[in-house]
Amino acid sequence: MEKKGEGTFSIILLALIQGILASGAVEVHPSINPAKVGDTVNLSLSPSVVMKSGNWAVGDSVILSWVGDQQAVFPSHNGRASVNVVTGALTLSSVTVADSGVYVVQSTDPQLKANVSITVLETVSNVTIRVSPQTNLMEFNGSAVLTCAVSSGSSLSFLWMNDSAVVTASDRVQLTDGNSTLTIVNVTRYDQGPFTCHAFNLVSNGTSDPVNFTITYGPDNMALTVNGQNTTSFSPGSNLTMLCSAQSNPPAVLQWVVRGALVNTTGPLLELISVSKEQSGPYSCLAFNNHTNMNSSITTNIVIGDLSSGSEQQEVSVWLLPLLLLFGLF
Ligand SMILES: *[C@@H]1O[C@H](CO)[C@@H](O)[C@H](O)[C@H]1NC(C)=O
Ligand SMILES: *[C@@H]1O[C@H](CO)[C@@H](O)[C@H](O)[C@H]1NC(C)=O
Ligand SMILES: *[C@@H]1O[C@H](CO)[C@@H](O)[C@H](O)[C@H]1NC(C)=O
Ligand SMILES: *[C@@H]1O[C@H](CO)[C@@H](O)[C@H](O)[C@H]1NC(C)=O
Ligand SMILES: *[C@@H]1O[C@H](CO)[C@@H](O)[C@H](O)[C@H]1NC(C)=O
Ligand SMILES: *[C@@H]1O[C@H](CO)[C@@H](O)[C@H](O)[C@H]1NC(C)=O
Ligand SMILES: *[C@@H]1O[C@H](CO)[C@@H](O)[C@H](O)[C@H]1NC(C)=O
Ligand SMILES: *[C@@H]1O[C@H](CO)[C@@H](O)[C@H](O)[C@H]1NC(C)=O
Ligand SMILES: *[C@@H]1O[C@H](CO)[C@@H](O)[C@H](O)[C@H]1NC(C)=O
Ligand SMILES: *[C@@H]1O[C@H](CO)[C@@H](O)[C@H](O)[C@H]1NC(C)=O
Ligand SMILES: *[C@@H]1O[C@H](CO)[C@@H](O)[C@H](O)[C@H]1NC(C)=O
Ligand SMILES: *[C@@H]1O[C@H](CO)[C@@H](O)[C@H](O)[C@H]1NC(C)=O
Repeated sequence: MEKKGEGTFSIILLALIQGILASGAVEVHPSINPAKVGDTVNLSLSPSVVMKSGNWAVGDSVILSWVGDQQAVFPSHNGRASVNVVTGALTLSSVTVADSGVYVVQSTDPQLKANVSITVLETVSNVTIRVSPQTNLMEFNGSAVLTCAVSSGSSLSFLWMNDSAVVTASDRVQLTDGNSTLTIVNVTRYDQGPFTCHAFNLVSNGTSDPVNFTITYGPDNMALTVNGQNTTSFSPGSNLTMLCSAQSNPPAVLQWVVRGALVNTTGPLLELISVSKEQSGPYSCLAFNNHTNMNSSITTNIVIGDLSSGSEQQEVSVWLLPLLLLFGLF
């Protein structure tokens, strides 16, 4: 009784397998996919089958065929391909990008045909940034073009970072050539970087060294405080420390004009000891950037006297500052 049961079981199993095969349920399982250049890739069958003969092909070209325990490898794959004659599993070593393709296994005993698509990618190496025309630019007067280059790597994607922020396309920012080229038109002071390029595919990634831009700008956004405040009225005998600032790269040369006359000191600080009423008037700070060749100024009307009556303000002569600059003060 027991023996008969086993036999019936085997027949049912065989019928099941044939049913599965007939419905094409045998699949090729790659050990890695995508693989990288140099990898060894195993293509096994699932569920496992015992095959007496068969062949493997990639696209239309046959890799090898086997009958019983005899296998014949075609010249195109000599030394790189072998088959497990029992399970039909193909082992392909030292794969190259050219080995990408659809791998088909075919057998007549048992009857089956299955395939899988394999991708082989080259790993990315030596990611570098090329800059044109140069890394020294003037704000609002130039474009920066950064090109990401690699020594090797296939099917690459590119991602640009400005410091720790991902660069995305916008009015001023263009990403072209599959995102490998970054163009920033009309650069601003916020475009100095450091920029890095991240190149990656499914099997590898690499990041370039950072690139910095030197953007010259300004002077602008000037500020002038007296004794650390915005107050402009002081009582006689006070000491005044005026502090001038400007946004500028390289830093601006700062000069002072007090009631129409240039003061023979440069720098952000102007100190007045024990001021008198006669020292009331417009105090100007002039800023000049010798790289952008631009200048800017800020004027505050200082009133020394009775603190309650200090609201009358004099206007600084608008023609005075350009005139001073014209006469070669810088
Ligand atoms: C691939 O197949 C070979 C030979 O059958 C075996 O030695 C190796 O361990 C297998 N590698 C993987 C990753 O399955
Ligand atoms: C691979 O197999 C699928 C079904 O499993 C089939 O539709 C397809 O045509 C096959 N491709 C090749 C190249 O044999
Ligand atoms: C890396 O890339 C740069 C620029 O493309 C090239 O000059 C250099 O030789 C490369 N280095 C290596 C190790 O491939
Ligand atoms: C550059 O930007 C400045 C300020 O936004 C703008 O005035 C100027 O027209 C822009 N120049 C170009 C060429 O887009
Ligand atoms: C703007 O750039 C052009 C060419 O790059 C240059 O000839 C010109 O002098 C620059 N303008 C200023 C104000 O620097
Ligand atoms: C370029 O990058 C953007 C994200 O900034 C992404 O949506 C797009 O798919 C990328 N294009 C290519 C060709 O990789
Ligand atoms: C980049 O590759 C390294 C291995 O070289 C891996 O550890 C890391 O997770 C990868 N990063 C990304 C973002 O794919
Ligand atoms: C680029 O700028 C960053 C910060 O702004 C700085 O830490 C880094 O040293 C600079 N790199 C180069 C090559 O100048
Ligand atoms: C002075 O005024 C400016 C704007 O008018 C303001 O940004 C700044 O914070 C003020 N400074 C002080 C010390 O009050
Ligand atoms: C002003 O400064 C002078 C010299 O530094 C000092 O002697 C004097 O006490 C100061 N006056 C006031 C009101 O702080
Ligand atoms: C400015 O001061 C320096 C010395 O500090 C002096 O040599 C120079 O002649 C002065 N210039 C004027 C215009 O007073
Ligand atoms: C700008 O001025 C600095 C000193 O403040 C000087 O060292 C530099 O050579 C000047 N540059 C130009 C282009 O005149």
